[in-house]
Order: sequence, then C-alpha cells, then structure tokens
Amino acid sequence: MTAKIIDGKAAAAELRQKLAERIAARGDKPYLAVVLVGDDPASLIYDRNKQKAALSMGMGCDIYHLPEQTTQAELLELVGKLNEDEKVNGLMVQMPLPAHIDPSAVIESIRPEKDVDGFGPYNAGLLHENDPRAMVAATPKGILYLLQKELPSLAGKHAVIIGRSKIVGRPLSSLLLNCDCTVTVAHSKTQNLPELTRQADILVAACGRPRMVKKDWVKEGATVIDVGINRIDGKLCGDVDFDEVKERAGLITPVPGGVGPMTVAMLLDNTYSAYLKQIDKLK
Ligand code: GUN
Repeated sequence: MTAKIIDGKAAAAELRQKLAERIAARGDKPYLAVVLVGDDPASLIYDRNKQKAALSMGMGCDIYHLPEQTTQAELLELVGKLNEDEKVNGLMVQMPLPAHIDPSAVIESIRPEKDVDGFGPYNAGLLHENDPRAMVAATPKGILYLLQKELPSLAGKHAVIIGRSKIVGRPLSSLLLNCDCTVTVAHSKTQNLPELTRQADILVAACGRPRMVKKDWVKEGATVIDVGINRIDGKLCGDVDFDEVKERAGLITPVPGGVGPMTVAMLLDNTYSAYLKQIDKLK
C-alpha cells in the first residue's frame, strides 16, 4: 500500500482565499500583532510567513521584534499596551521565549478575546469543556480540519498523539475527544510506544524527534499526521520517517506542505473571528 498524501498547502491556500474574499467583501481590516523576543531563526521565518500571509489577505499585521535581553516586565508592558489598543484584534507571543521569561505569565497576560493562539487558561478551559466559544490553538485546529476533510467520520477512531505540549498535544487531545475519538496521549515517559502506536487509526507525531516514527510503528491503512519541523543536514524533515511510513499508512501529511501551512491559515482564521466578535460587542 502507498498512502494518499494529504496536501495541507492546497487546503490552506483554499481557506486563505475564502477568508480573503470575506474580508474584501465586507471591507474589513482585521489586525494581528505578533510579538517576537530574540532572534531564533525558525521563529523569525514563522513570523514573517504569518505576516506575509496576513498582508496578502488584506489584514494588518506587525511583528513587534524585541531583543533577546528584554525583561519579563518589559514584555508584559508591551502585551498590556497591545491588550488596550483597540486596533489590535489578535495578539500572539511567539514561543519559545528566552529562558529568563516565564511563558505562562506571558500567555496568561493576553486578553482572552485577543488570544488567537488559544494558549491562555480561559480558552484552553473552554476547549476542555467542549464549549464552542473557545479560541482553538491553530495547529490542532488545522489538523482537525484536514482529518475531517479526509475521513468520513472520526467517532470511535483510536487517535494516538505523541507529545503533550500546550501548543499541540494537549489541545488536540481535547479536540479529538470532543469528536468522539478514543484518545491516547503518549510522551517521553510512555512505555512500549511502538506497541501503542500500532493500535492507532489516527497517529499524530508531535514530539520534535526527527523521523522517529518508523514503518513498523504504524497500523496498515492508518492516517498519519506529522507535526514535526526538524532539519537534518539543512533538509527539512518531520517526526515521521515519511519514505518508510508512506508504504504502510493509508493517508499521510508531508513535511513541508502538510500541517505547517494549515497553522498559518488557522491563526488568521482565529484573528478574523476575534475581529468579528470584537466589532459585534461595540455595536
Ligand atoms: N511556536 C510554535 N508554534 C507556535 C504557535 O502556534 N504559536 C506561538 N505563539 N508560538 C509557537
């Protein structure tokens, strides 16, 4: 069996096109503020991609780029100003932050209605309770979109997620549970991991280990979602050994061109939703 490749790039382009048409038709100008501390090269690329995509869709977007040695108090002061600024509809602080800054303190300082990453306790709590008002983190939201596009039903499917991060594993586990999947979250202390992953109808690799998931970890015909973005000898690769695993999976996302583009599209989708809710409140 050779897997069908899930084209996240095409799905994201289609989503962005639809969103751009809605924005243009209404004459809207939603605005996203992206805060970046330090010069992590991957973060710089991600944030420039977000800004380019936002601008191409008729949104406003600035990157507030602060030096590595910025203190937590200085960062919180900027977040406070952006919280107060009515022009700002969506506000995100790029992770990871430098080690001297507590990410939870920063995430918690973002107003829930502007928290387009959905990482804050308010939105994470709503998602946990299956409340439709939740702003859902962009990467899990993009993964769910691809799964619902490709699979006739998710109910009763066994989803195994490798990774328990706040950005992917935890919110995705809630989302899939809310879709009636049976969800197992595996992590660095999980025992007999390949034995577990072989039981998965849907296997999500979000562990940050290049090509960790091998062919014999995967059930024949399973759907494999690769969230990893790693570099080996300058070449991008995921957490799944794509060349091997595509011979056993039924559906698989590539890296690049799978989950990554969906994250950007969903972040902008969240920004537009935040904007609509905010102007509704002003009426
Ligand atoms: N770092 C990796 N992914 C993300 C994301 O979706 N949002 C933020 N803020 N930081 C990230």
